[in-house]
Amino acid sequence: MSNQKYTVTAALPYANGPLHLGHIAGVYLPADIFVRYLRMKNEDVVFVCGSDEHGAAITLRAKKEGVTPQEIVDRYHSINKKAFRDFDIDFDIYHRTSSEIHHQTASDYFKKLYEDGQFIQKTSEQYFDEEHQQFLADRYITGECPKCENPNAYGDQCEKCGSDLSPLDLINPKSTISGNKPVLKETSHWFLPMERHEEWLTSWIQEGKIHGKQLHNPKEWKNQVTGQVMSWLTAGLRPRAMTRDLDWGVKVPLEGADGKVLYVWLDAPIGYISATKKWAEDNDKNWEEYWKVNPESGEAETKLIHFIGKDNIVFHSIIFPILLKQHGEYVLPDNVPANEFLNLEGDKLSTSRNWAVWLHEYIEEYPDKIDELRYVLTSIMPESKDSEFTWKDYQDRINNELVAIFGNFVNRVVVLTNKYYEGVVPTAGELSEDDKAVLEEVKSISERIGKSVEQYRFREAMGEAMNIARAGNKYLADAEPWKL
Ligand code: 2FM
Ligand code: ZN
Repeated sequence: MSNQKYTVTAALPYANGPLHLGHIAGVYLPADIFVRYLRMKNEDVVFVCGSDEHGAAITLRAKKEGVTPQEIVDRYHSINKKAFRDFDIDFDIYHRTSSEIHHQTASDYFKKLYEDGQFIQKTSEQYFDEEHQQFLADRYITGECPKCENPNAYGDQCEKCGSDLSPLDLINPKSTISGNKPVLKETSHWFLPMERHEEWLTSWIQEGKIHGKQLHNPKEWKNQVTGQVMSWLTAGLRPRAMTRDLDWGVKVPLEGADGKVLYVWLDAPIGYISATKKWAEDNDKNWEEYWKVNPESGEAETKLIHFIGKDNIVFHSIIFPILLKQHGEYVLPDNVPANEFLNLEGDKLSTSRNWAVWLHEYIEEYPDKIDELRYVLTSIMPESKDSEFTWKDYQDRINNELVAIFGNFVNRVVVLTNKYYEGVVPTAGELSEDDKAVLEEVKSISERIGKSVEQYRFREAMGEAMNIARAGNKYLADAEPWKL
């Protein structure tokens, strides 16, 4: 019997706001379709997700609203958990990084790497807000992007051009909390020397091999993912701080680290592991089988697959793989099928400009139109380039495709079955050549659907699924069973 397993993760959304259609089309719906397919094939799969409850995304939101970070994460964790459930996204567990089991797991993970000499401690000058007596990392600092002149780039990233930045790169930096010009002050942190790992990462990304051992097939990875990782590797990796001066997060479990927490991008992906642990605990499973190589054979028996948006590629295809490999025992991702972005009516989706269709609001307004939206979002999934959601297109796709082709087929079959067979599917009689041909066609379409799903081509898979309805409609029109 095969021990093959699948560990499927969907990016943990920050619990600092509600989910919008871009999140769903980019990450959660493709992951859900993929997992449903595996489950239909009786594969052994665990599908994990949960709220990312640490980092500046949370604390800044709390500050803005004048409430505690805990209030923020409690509010959005429950809104998002419910929205996923109502939208039929079928996780095995929707966990939280504020949980005890997560803090313990992340803390132990960091400690093991620290003890193995995987970090370097460095003192450096960082921006500091004198009014608030706080260091300013990541989103706590904004300024002009040195690459594209966007005046509102964050200390870790420019959302306009997608460049990865450090606070010292920003032109005219200012504190997000006070608006003041920050001063430089010394602080000490633990860094991951990413440059040590360039060689094996390059071979892993380009050939799917580490030290000659084949781990995955790189041809199965999307070009945009491999391309982005290669451009990081070609530019040369730099040490990256794995801790922050903040009081919200997983405490750094070392002497002399008071007031410091783990970098959110260290703790969040470990959230996939802690979620699996919790699920295993509750379901009488062994979590290690879903994360570690078989200790006897040294082989991976699970395929780890991370569904994410393109802004998360570096964390899932460089940083987390380094952490997994350097810890030892863990498998590396088999694939990171990242999607591009979805735009709304010609403009970029934006939480801060309130330009979005919020999932929970859609569900409230159209509680009986869940599958319609799943259909539309699948047909416009931004799989290889950015795509566009408009209400006009939503209406057209539902009326002209879902209703006209699929709905029509189902309706005709149900009506005929009710009318002539009292609503019970009759035993098949002798099959004509046409009957056999249509059954063959359905079988071959089904196989093509499976192949497309396995290659993360969900638009194509759904197009094929609609071909079954088309074949059915044609069959009914040709056979005219009502005449018999
Ligand atoms: O970009 C985001 O919304 C992050 N919260 C995703 C985290 S993914 C994983 F690492 F947990
Ligand atoms: Zn920029």
